[in-house]
Formats: sequence, C-alpha cells, structure tokens
Amino acid sequence: MSIPTRRQGITALAAVLILAACAETGDAYYASIRIDNYPKADGPGEVMSDGEAESARRIAAIIEAHLVRLKSDYHETHLYRDAHPKATGCVDASFTINADIPPALRHGLFATPGRSFPAIVRFSNSNENPFRADSQPDGRGMAIKLFGLRPDEHPMTADPQASRAVTLAGAEPGNFSLAGQPAQDLIMISHPTFLVADAEGYRRMIGYADADNWMADLAAPVAALFAAGIPGIKSATETTSLTIDNPLSTRYWSMVPYQLGNSAVKFSVRLESLPQPQAVPDKSDPNFLTRVMSETLKKDGTRMTFLIQPRTSDTQSVEDSRIEWLEQDAPFYPVATITIPAQTFDTEGRRQACEALSYSPWHALQEHKPLGAVNRMRKAIYEAISAFRREG
Ligand code: HEM
Repeated sequence: MSIPTRRQGITALAAVLILAACAETGDAYYASIRIDNYPKADGPGEVMSDGEAESARRIAAIIEAHLVRLKSDYHETHLYRDAHPKATGCVDASFTINADIPPALRHGLFATPGRSFPAIVRFSNSNENPFRADSQPDGRGMAIKLFGLRPDEHPMTADPQASRAVTLAGAEPGNFSLAGQPAQDLIMISHPTFLVADAEGYRRMIGYADADNWMADLAAPVAALFAAGIPGIKSATETTSLTIDNPLSTRYWSMVPYQLGNSAVKFSVRLESLPQPQAVPDKSDPNFLTRVMSETLKKDGTRMTFLIQPRTSDTQSVEDSRIEWLEQDAPFYPVATITIPAQTFDTEGRRQACEALSYSPWHALQEHKPLGAVNRMRKAIYEAISAFRREG
C-alpha cells in the first residue's frame, strides 16, 4: 500500500468534507429536540468539550429520524429501542451488597453491607435489527434496574413513561409489579471500551452511518476513521464481533465511568455459577439465546458477581471512552451478588412489559453520577429518545 501524497491527502479530505454536507438526516426533527439541563462536567476527571450539548441535540435528532425509518422498514406498529432492540430475556433478580465490601467503596447503594434490592435485568443484542438471528456476531447488553430505594434516595432523572410500564406490569408477577418506581440503573455491554473521544466525533460518525444516500454510504468508513480514530474503530469492531452461547455466562462492562465517593469507577459483571451440565445450544434457532436462558432458569437459578474498578491514575481517561483502564493497573473488586432465581420469563406479557421499560445511566443516585462526555450526552439523548419511542 503506498502512502498518499500531500495533494492526494488534501483532495481526499475535501471530498470527505463535501460529502459531510450530504450526510446527516434528522433535520426535520431537529427543531423539536430540547436539551434542558445539560449536565455539568463537575465530577472527578471531567472536562466539558466545546459544543457538546449541541452535538447531543443533533445526535438525538438523527436517532429519532432513524427510529421512524426503522419502523417503516420493519412494517411495525410500535417503535423498538434504537440500540439494543432485541431482548434475549428480561428476568427477575436480586442484587445484594457483599458483607465484605471494601470500606473505601461503601458509598450510595453500596454503603450498607448485606442490603438487598429487587431487580429486573434485561439482556439484549446491540444490532438495530430486532429480528436478527442470535447466532450473528454482535455486542450484548445487560441492563440492571434496582428497586427498593429509600424515600430519601432520589434518582437524578426519573423514568418519563413510568405509568405505562406500571399498567403492563399489572399482568406480570414478580419484580415487574415494581416497574415505574424510582430505580437505580446499571447498564453494561460485553466489551470494556466504547468508541469515541468526544461528542463531536460521535455526531459525525453516526451522521454518516445513518445518512440515507449513496454518497454518505461511500464516505462512511473514511468518515468513521476520521471521527473515531484507530482505537475507536478497533473498539467498535471488537464489540460487534462477539458470538456467545448464553447471556448468563457472558462478561459485561460499563464501558464509561461513574462517580463513587470522590473517585471515578467503572463496573463489570461476571458469572459466578451456572447449573451444570449445560446443553449444547441449537444455534439454527434465530432466538436460541432466549431458549438457552429459559432452559438454564427452568429448574435452577444462577448467580453473577458485580465488580467495581476504581480509577488509580490520571492517565485512565474519564472523558475518552476508547481508553481501557487495564485490570493490571486498576483491579476490579467484587462488591455485590446478583441472584437470578429459577423462573419462567419467556411469556408474551413479560415481553410487552420489558418493551415498555426504559433504562438510562441517569436513573442514578447523585452518589453514582455518570461521568464523561458520552454519559453527559446520554442524559439528553436517552430522555428524548425513550419518550419519543414510547409515544410512537
Ligand atoms: C453517546 C453514546 C450513546 C448513545 C447515543 C446511545 C443511545 C442509546 C439509545 C437511544 C438507546 C435506547 C433507549 C430507549 O429507547 O429506551 C440505548 C440503549 C442502550 N444502550 Fe446506549 N447509547 C450510547 C452509549 C452507550 C454506552 C457507552 C453503553 C455502554 C454500557 C450503552 C449501552 C446501552 C444498552 C445496554 C442499551 C439497552 C438498555 C435496555 O436494555 O433497555 N450505550 N442507547
């Protein structure tokens, strides 16, 4: 491969910039998106970047337009989530703080050893297509919703459509009867890093990925490289190339940091125990992950370990989501146990109730404030998109 000359480089850059003008969709919706109370960058390690709130507003508009297009592409009567639309299972669980949690980590939810929270855990596939076969490589999501907060514990933003979830949950036994109550959410994906350094880079990248014209399609890979850089492309490729046998035995990471006391931390979940022996999954079934989870939870429950990774150095970036905090530099500590009891979760009522749920990193106590540019943007975007999806 030859290295481009300066002139060729300038021509290529000019071409990308011209194509940029054709790339973005979402203009028709742009005016209706409001970004109120954009979060301050006042947590440990946070630095606000220029034009960040405006980028978030633009991204929310692109996602709304994308959702409308997907609804028509799939001839569906309701809007699925824009990201992680396919739930492989939505299960009842409990989340219990370990008796031996290190004293330095005892803040907020984790302040009291032995405290237990009823929870709903939604496992998902990342791809935008809610009907895609589970055997396809993809990122895998795990979103935990913890109920049982005390009256003095207030999430920083409330679930905007709680009442609808409650109505549907009426038909569902177990922890779904708590849907709509104030909750602390903990959201993870099956990879340790996300893909952008800043808000503007992400806006440019999804503007291309989502643009509905051939010129933008052509420019998308080059633009993605400009916007995310090699570490971002590496992270995106690794995230979306995972195949798994069982969502309950997969490892998950928060990807981006959160506050705990005066520190920034990331978190992760790994399997503790799975009933044995496990049957070999039949991957020709497009929904085999749901089948496998149903089989696992038919007779026996399972346990997963929740881990916290405190930041140990300023070189572990809070703002740049592409930078992994390596375990050898910043160890993870087990702090809680997630118990998923034996249950039947694969029912139509549960599927509907799960669709109506809304997870957000900002359904969080002040003590667990989401940190960094990606998380600040997510506040505005999840609020706008979650409400839009449920109204559609
Ligand atoms: C600026 C960056 C991001 C944007 C624009 C974005 C956007 C979204 C949107 C629009 C949804 C659907 C919300 C709804 O309709 O209720 C969603 C869901 C989700 N996102 Fe993100 N996201 C971002 C970053 C992340 C990161 C860093 C993670 C890493 C943990 C993540 C994990 C998830 C998961 C697991 C879900 C599904 C939650 C559920 O089960 O309901 N996202 N995201």
